[in-house]
Amino acid sequence: MSITKFDGILYGGDYCPEQWDEHIWLEDIQIMKYYNVNAVTLNVHSWCILQPKEGPYDFTKMDKMIKLLTDNQINIIMATGTAALPNWLLNKYPDMMAEDITGVRHKPGKRVNYCPNSPDYLREIKNMCEALADHYKAQENIVLWHLNNELEINCYCTNCAGKYREWLKTKYGSLKALNQKWNTMFWGHQYSAWEEINPPVYANMIYRNLDGTGIDISGFPTETIEYLRYMSISYRNCFEIEKEAIRKYIPDAVVTNNFQYRNFNYDILAKPLDVVSFDTYPSNGEPAYKAAFNYDITRGMNGLKPFLIMEMSPNQASWEKCAPIKRPGQVAQIAMGALARGAESAMFFQIRRSRSGFEKFHGAMIDHSGRTDTRLGRELMELGNAFKKLKNTFLDSKIPARTAIIMDWDCRWGVEIPSSVQKNMHYLEEVLYYYEWLHAQNIMVDVVRADSDFSGYDIVLGPMLYMIEENEADNIKAFVENGGTFITTYYSGLADKEDNIWMGGYPALWKDMLGLWIEETDALKVEQSNIVQMSASWLTGDYQCGFLCDLIRAEGARVLGTYGDDFYQGIPCITENEYGAGKAVYIGTKPEKKLLNELLKHYCDEKNIEPILSIQAGVEAVMRMNDDKRYLFLFNHNINVETVALGEQYKDVLQDVVIENVELPVMGYAILEKMNF
Ligand code: GLA
Ligand code: ZN
Repeated sequence: MSITKFDGILYGGDYCPEQWDEHIWLEDIQIMKYYNVNAVTLNVHSWCILQPKEGPYDFTKMDKMIKLLTDNQINIIMATGTAALPNWLLNKYPDMMAEDITGVRHKPGKRVNYCPNSPDYLREIKNMCEALADHYKAQENIVLWHLNNELEINCYCTNCAGKYREWLKTKYGSLKALNQKWNTMFWGHQYSAWEEINPPVYANMIYRNLDGTGIDISGFPTETIEYLRYMSISYRNCFEIEKEAIRKYIPDAVVTNNFQYRNFNYDILAKPLDVVSFDTYPSNGEPAYKAAFNYDITRGMNGLKPFLIMEMSPNQASWEKCAPIKRPGQVAQIAMGALARGAESAMFFQIRRSRSGFEKFHGAMIDHSGRTDTRLGRELMELGNAFKKLKNTFLDSKIPARTAIIMDWDCRWGVEIPSSVQKNMHYLEEVLYYYEWLHAQNIMVDVVRADSDFSGYDIVLGPMLYMIEENEADNIKAFVENGGTFITTYYSGLADKEDNIWMGGYPALWKDMLGLWIEETDALKVEQSNIVQMSASWLTGDYQCGFLCDLIRAEGARVLGTYGDDFYQGIPCITENEYGAGKAVYIGTKPEKKLLNELLKHYCDEKNIEPILSIQAGVEAVMRMNDDKRYLFLFNHNINVETVALGEQYKDVLQDVVIENVELPVMGYAILEKMNF
């Protein structure tokens, strides 16, 4: 069963016929057919044609586009268009525009810069979505509804401030409770009236953008986190309004929004969506594990079910500082890479390259020449053929993971708005540090939450899991008690979601599980390091470490490694503890990759967690399976042709041949079906 109303892999992209004369539309259709495009996203930026001025909606032009697409058997993903508002509307309601953290109000002239709490905005999007859904309720080939568009910013206006206070009232019930939970006695910051509470303000940010990349640091991280959380709830509310308006006329409409992992809590945003989509823009030369991690995150956001790729670039991403063209084979490798990890679509931004504006040099399926007898044209046509051949092969299939990694959006804020001893913190990079090894081994990983059901996993990793609530801490303990291996690190289990430290020795909620407590934590500069002296029965020797160094007091835990340098030489830094039927491993400092490899390999071996296929480095293997089929995807990331020995018979799904060895060109891929299992 498909996640959309189309029984196949969606292939196409954002289509903006409103930017072109109608004779060009006919050319577009011919080219789409040549490429085997089966779906386009309409209306992302075309509110202004549906309502060119205040007054009734006019669907004449949109009807025409839809008729043409429908006559040519192309499916439609209908966007609600609520991210790009017409100038007349914004000029009429200036407070529909977001205000940034410096207090500056946005002006018309951009997109995705509306205030999510503006009553005018909320009314207008509701009306628009109802009108769209009412008008197109009988349009059979609308397979999906695309709410708004990639979110970008947060709003700090007085409107949002008012709604924020209302939300806080409901959340805390009383000011006393809020003062307590926010620990406002710190710096004498107690609130005596709700009106005193405001969104974060630029002027109050301390050490703004400390290293140029992190989130602003506030004197009261609890409040900053709370406000950011509220902003995500505000955008969720917009999604809910749009969804409800569409469902009023189309009760079984499937809705999505396209995510890019920015400054939001995406678990909150995902709630109203039937399917989470991701926009994938890996840069040339970027290691493959980064994109893979994004796909695994997105599958996790969908309850480990398939997801959609709503955008990628068929060539340059013109917003890159220096935007290289995609290399031969690269587009297909990106598209199939996402498919391997659960995607059911490959949609591009965009079908036809715009004539002017910010994206006039952004890759598109149809470039300014309008020709298809080009390198890119051939690649897009071949990719479309591949999807046509695959049809619904993978729909609803699963990735067989026995290893999970916990990732938490609140933790991201918790560590990146730090009042900690180490400011150089990038949460996703820390999680990636651990994910990278698993990816390189071709071990399948699910990205989950601390309160997820862990019963299907043998190993769960929680790197830098700074914030944890009691129920989550207990869920992890139960997993270990029942025989699982939990691996966590420095800066984990320290605070609750309001950023209050759990008292009684770090990490208070897990001291018994880990068999230790941490007396002090040293922070090292980038150029500094210490040494881990491993003394495990299975590994000895010296390794580099740095970043953070927990000085561990082992109380029951087995010490596997101690520091080799500084005054804390000899103090434990890596431990493991038997707890119930399982094991809790604590890595109290950032180990060099060589040591991390040994550690993770050891714990995977203990649980017989093996690669999907043991093959040469640089070739990625992923498995998607359903009840009676096993599909193996292979990707060559090396700079030379690779021949992969499969060890048994597989059918090459696209070539229709049974093979035991497969040759992968540079940037090549193969999709294989296991013959006997
Ligand atoms: C984002 C937007 C698109 C387009 C692309 C270009 O993903 O959603 O509308 O601007 O960027 O890469
Ligand atoms: Zn606002």
